[in-house]
Amino acid sequence: MMYILAPSLLAADFTILGEQIREIQKAGVNYLHIDVMDGMFVPSISFGMPLIASIRSATTQFFDVHLMITDPIRYIKDFAECGADGITFHLEAADHVDEVIDRIHSLGLKAGLSIKPSTPLEEVYPYLPKLDTVLIMSVEPGFGGQAFMDEAYGRIAELRKYINSHCLPVKIEVDGGIGKKNVREVLRAGADICVAGSAVFKKRSISENIAHFMEAFHE
Ligand code: DX5
Ligand code: ZN
Repeated sequence: MMYILAPSLLAADFTILGEQIREIQKAGVNYLHIDVMDGMFVPSISFGMPLIASIRSATTQFFDVHLMITDPIRYIKDFAECGADGITFHLEAADHVDEVIDRIHSLGLKAGLSIKPSTPLEEVYPYLPKLDTVLIMSVEPGFGGQAFMDEAYGRIAELRKYINSHCLPVKIEVDGGIGKKNVREVLRAGADICVAGSAVFKKRSISENIAHFMEAFHE
């Protein structure tokens, strides 16, 4: 099994962003999770196109843009143009989910659909055949550094069962509160991609933190 670590930029030190991105890449991680918040769909505001465009020139990593914004169709083209490789949006934020997925694909990007902890899992099932990833939130979206909600394990496992039984190639990404203490359980439940903000950027050095994840990924 090839697992992916998706370091969440939200927890980075923006005064030395370039250095931190290089450190992630040097540690062998070719993915970057980029959380965009609009102050409407979620209470907080993070960053947008200019920041993404500016780091695009510094790295070849896969830019996994997580849109926590209302009516995401309005901005798909902008995020494609500033360097996204994949765009994940929220089921709760879009009126016409199919249309948003098609727009993302028409721009040549991977499409992901995310659900909040309180959204019934079955609501993503109709879209699975055309999705590249499903992002299960294991915290309420809006802030980094929150505690993992244990209810997520059952949801990951249920989705894994459904995906496998229907032989779908869609990947399961899990976001929020993942660290070295619970990453093994998240993988065991059926995740392919683990997002981690605080656990990558805080406390120890980025390379030490990433090494803990790699250990769990290769067991
Ligand atoms: C939360 C974001 C997450 C967050 C994860 O709304 O979608 O990606 O940055 O951060 P940690 O790993 O600190 O929970
Ligand atoms: Zn996220």
